[in-house]
Formats: sequence, C-alpha cells, structure tokens
Amino acid sequence: MTATAHAVIDLDVTGHTISRHVYGHFAEHLGRCIYDGFWVGEDSPIPNERGIRLDIVDALRNLDIPNLRWPGGCFADTYHWRDGVGPRESRPKIANTNWGDVVESNHFGTHEFMELCELLGADAYVNGNVGSGTVQEMADWVEYLTRDDDSPMARLRREHGRDEPWKVPFWGLGNEAWGCGGNMSAEHYAEEARRYATFCRDHGGNRLTRIAAGANEDDLDWTRVLMKSLTECLGCRLYGTPVYQAVSFHYYTHSGSGINTEAATEFTATQFYQTMAYAADLDRVIRGHVAVMDSYDPAGRIGLVCDEWGTWWNVEEGTNPGFLFQQNTVRDALVAGLHFDIFHRHARRLTMANIAQTVNVLQAMVLTDGDRLVLTPTYHVFEMNKRHQDASLLATHVIDAPSIDVDGEALPLLSMSASTKDGGALLSLTHLSADEHLEVTVDLRGREARVRQARVLGGDATNAFNDPDDPSRVAPQPLATGLADGILTVRMPPHSFATIELDVG
Ligand code: AHR
Repeated sequence: MTATAHAVIDLDVTGHTISRHVYGHFAEHLGRCIYDGFWVGEDSPIPNERGIRLDIVDALRNLDIPNLRWPGGCFADTYHWRDGVGPRESRPKIANTNWGDVVESNHFGTHEFMELCELLGADAYVNGNVGSGTVQEMADWVEYLTRDDDSPMARLRREHGRDEPWKVPFWGLGNEAWGCGGNMSAEHYAEEARRYATFCRDHGGNRLTRIAAGANEDDLDWTRVLMKSLTECLGCRLYGTPVYQAVSFHYYTHSGSGINTEAATEFTATQFYQTMAYAADLDRVIRGHVAVMDSYDPAGRIGLVCDEWGTWWNVEEGTNPGFLFQQNTVRDALVAGLHFDIFHRHARRLTMANIAQTVNVLQAMVLTDGDRLVLTPTYHVFEMNKRHQDASLLATHVIDAPSIDVDGEALPLLSMSASTKDGGALLSLTHLSADEHLEVTVDLRGREARVRQARVLGGDATNAFNDPDDPSRVAPQPLATGLADGILTVRMPPHSFATIELDVG
C-alpha cells in the first residue's frame, strides 16, 4: 500500500540558526560508556591514543560532534574532581553508587576528558557537583581547567602535566536536583544555582555558559521557579549578564508505560506507535518551557538546553541492570528523526541538546563488543542530518499527510524539517508508518534547486538493528528522487528516515 503526502518549502524564507550544539552528546561514568567504551587504557591491544579508543573517536568525528557532556548525569553529583587528577596509580577508588554499585578507578578524569574532547574536536560541557560538593570545590575546578597564570589551581594543573589552560564553554550546575542530584525543591535549588554560578568565574578568555539543572519533562513549575529566581533578583548578575545563562530539562522516550519497562527489540505495532507519539509530544513540552521562559525573558537571552534525551528500554538480557545497555533499532532512529525536527523548529530558544548516551548506554551512537564496534541506526540519523548544524531554518509546511490514531490522538505519519547554508539545503523526512510506503511531493518555492544527494535509512523491520555479526543491516541507502518544475517527489519505504541535499541557486 502507498499513501501520499504534500508539503511546501520556502527556500527563500530563512529563520533562526539551528545551533550545532543541538547535535551534542553525553558520556557518563555509567556501565560501559567510559570504561570499556571511550577508555580502554594505554596498554590495551585496541588502537588508542593515550588510552582513548580511536575507532570511537573516528566514528564521532564523522558526525561533526559539537560537544560532549561529562561526567554525569547522576554521577556528577557524587563526583569529586580531585579524585581524578594526578598520577593514575595514586588516584583513589570510589564506589559508583548510582550505577551498578561498582568500584570506579578514577583512571578517566579531567585530563583524560579534555584530551578526548581535543581528539574529537568537540567543546567540553563539564557538569559540576552541587548535590554532594561545595561551592569552593566547583570554583577550584573551573580555575584548574581554565586559568592561565600562577594561581594555585593553574599551578596544580601544571604539576599534573598540562601547561595551557583549556577552553570550557559549558558548565552544568548539578543535575536533576529534583531527584538524584539532591531531592531539592525548585525554590531551594534556584538559590543554590545562583550561589554556585556566582563563583564559577570566567578566567582569562574563557566564557562559561552556566546551565542550571532543570525540569523533568513537562514540569513547567520547575522552569518557572528558575526563571523567576534568575530574572527577579536584581543583584544576580555576573559580568553584566544573568548569573546563569541557560536552564535545562530532560526528556526520555518510551511507549508510555515508563522507562525501563519494555525490551528494546521486542515490541508490538501499538507500542511502536505509542513510542512515536511520546517522541512527538516533545514539541508540546518544549513549547511549554519556551512560553514560561518568554514570559520572564522575552528577549531570549537565556538558553533552553535538553541535556538528556533518548529512548530508555530494559537492559539486554544477561547484562548488569545498573549499566543501562540496550540495543538500538529502527524505532530508535525514528525517535531521533522526530526529535531533530522538533529541535530545529525551536531554534530560537533551544541552544543545546545531548543524547543519552554516546557509547554503550541507552540510545547510543556506537556499541562495542571487545575490539568490535557497531554503528547504530541512531548514529546514521546524526550523520545524515549533520549539515543542519549551524544552518538557517527554512519554512516548511506539511499540507497533508496520513495520520494514525494513538490512544485517541492523531499522530501524523510524516515529520519534516529543512535548513540552508553554504549554497545548499538539507531536507529531513521521518516516515512513521510501520507497513505502508509514502509518496511525498514537495513544492520547492523561491529558489532553483537541484538534488545533490538523497539517502534513506529504513531496515527491513521496525525492530531491525545492527550487531557485530550483521553491522550494516540498517544503513543509509541511495534514495531515488524526481525533481521537475520545482516539484520534488520521493517514495519513502515504511518506517524510514530520509535526507535530501539540494544545491540551491
Ligand atoms: O542517563 C542516565 C541517567 O538518567 C542520568 O544519570 C540521569 O541524569 C537521568 O536520570
């Protein structure tokens, strides 16, 4: 069966710039993300540079990874940075009480993380400890990382082998303060965020974007309290700007029955569509946060950051429940496609987003098995979409498209977004029908266009995935297109994600 859809794109009507940072990532000391993931150690037979696994670096560089958030997550509010600097053999071990209650060697610490960012060409997003740390400890960490003179922390960094300060553009003021970050009330946390932010200084030429730990999903009250506390406190200014410059929120997708309740690879058609509806509902959630932020900050100076997003399924059988290792299917890739369209639409306020997590945890880009590495379907969405980074949003209108009823609400089966930069345009289309093809007709208005490349990612089933024995079961394929008199036509297979790159005159 084939359904039809029609859309219009105004190639000459540009909107806000889509920050490259919405293509950001997150790496926590959790399961096999850092150890047996990014970090294999210098003595490993797996090719590495100073202990950092190089095939992962290559894969992520191919995504133009813009930033990496570290060390958590919940782990961040138990992390004391001094444990992770200095000679590795003398670093103290600690218990990772959030994730599997395993012993953490601290072999991967501040220097290793910053070296990883340098190898990746990514900006560092360091998440500080509010829950069990101190203001002084956080202020010292900022100084250690970013100061260039003979201040005490700069000297300590040099004693540990690094002369030059690093650039750290993003700084997290704790994480999920309403939960694992300290079970605080919004009012209490807002005071703490102001206090901690005040002492996280801009040293030398470094400029921090301080990010207050925000809401769970659509907890708009949390955002309201943070924004009120920030904007109504006249003295709360640092270097002439509000004392923190962004607020975050987290959004995990499942089929509606909660995180950790379903298998990643075994699900019904109903659960598939419920998952898509949950992912699509992110638009409502962001609109809610944006409306609250607009009411306190109409000029849009404070950024909204979705610094944890992605699917959260049951762990794979036989793996540590605390390690959050899950497979990654076409269903996950479509969630990513939907999310990026939503992120693009909110380019005015949404300044960053970080998928959870990059390696071997939750909705990962890459999964490792010994020395083998698999690129997940989600990885391919990031790769196919990378030209949206720092591009200008284009006006896109879906005129008509099929929909399906999900628990009484109509879920459109086509989502799309488009952007332009450097004489080109990129269209992304996410087609959600589990079993029908879709003929899509796009009226390209305002400028001449020519198809440069068109690719589709679909796989043979909604639960198809890649593994070391079949690493390319779900991979981008060429997509046939027609383009005459400004009318672009494509035939999308069921459950597929497509990108079309255009030259525009
Ligand atoms: O990404 C896994 C965990 O999910 C993070 O540590 C926490 O912030 C969230 O609850």
